[in-house]
Amino acid sequence: MNTERELIAEYLDRSNEYWTNLTEDQLEQVVHFCRGKLLLDLGAGFGTLAEFLLRFGATRVLCVDKENHHMKSTWGEMVWSHMNFAEFSTWPLDKTFEVGIISWPTNNDMAMCPLVEILRKCASVVYIGTNKGGTQCGTPYLWEYLTSRELIVDMPGNDSSLMIYSDKPRPCGQDRTEEEIEGMNMHL
Ligand SMILES: C[S@@+](CC[C@H](N)C(=O)[O-])C[C@H]1O[C@@H](n2cnc3c(N)ncnc32)[C@H](O)[C@@H]1O
Repeated sequence: MNTERELIAEYLDRSNEYWTNLTEDQLEQVVHFCRGKLLLDLGAGFGTLAEFLLRFGATRVLCVDKENHHMKSTWGEMVWSHMNFAEFSTWPLDKTFEVGIISWPTNNDMAMCPLVEILRKCASVVYIGTNKGGTQCGTPYLWEYLTSRELIVDMPGNDSSLMIYSDKPRPCGQDRTEEEIEGMNMHL
């Protein structure tokens, strides 16, 4: 029988989205963190990350994306909301989400305020992306918000960083990571 790691590697061979830049160690961490949880994938693209996390044990994923590129298929407990963040942020959500996922978030300034409003309703936040090599994920406004939360997982990588934030405020003495500093210093 294949180990979880072998199954992850096999899945990556078949997918070619931004998030597949993560290393197997990083993906294993995301899988473990999201298992059994209700996820909100903000800027879900084709929904392949949502599908991946569902396959590896996430309970349910609500995918939000302004584009109607919709996944090739809808898998398991995956629900789509084709709205931009501003529209979605006005939804009267009756529950908080356990995990908000921002994988390679847009750097569109107009989208940041509603995106942060949505993240405030998420108990934890999973960030995937990089601010190195001329790439900009999010804007200083987003990073100002993220760095107000406690960082519980920090896995930098050559192609992508993985960071996970809890619902607690940033403790005194928890320094900003290189990725966070780059994000806060970006000039649009
Ligand atoms: C760089 S892609 C990342 C896709 C996917 N998360 C991944 O890691 O492969 C950014 C996605 O955010 C979506 N997006 C950008 N601005 C948005 C907005 N204001 N509201 C909702 N989705 C948005 C885009 O349509 C696109 O699918």
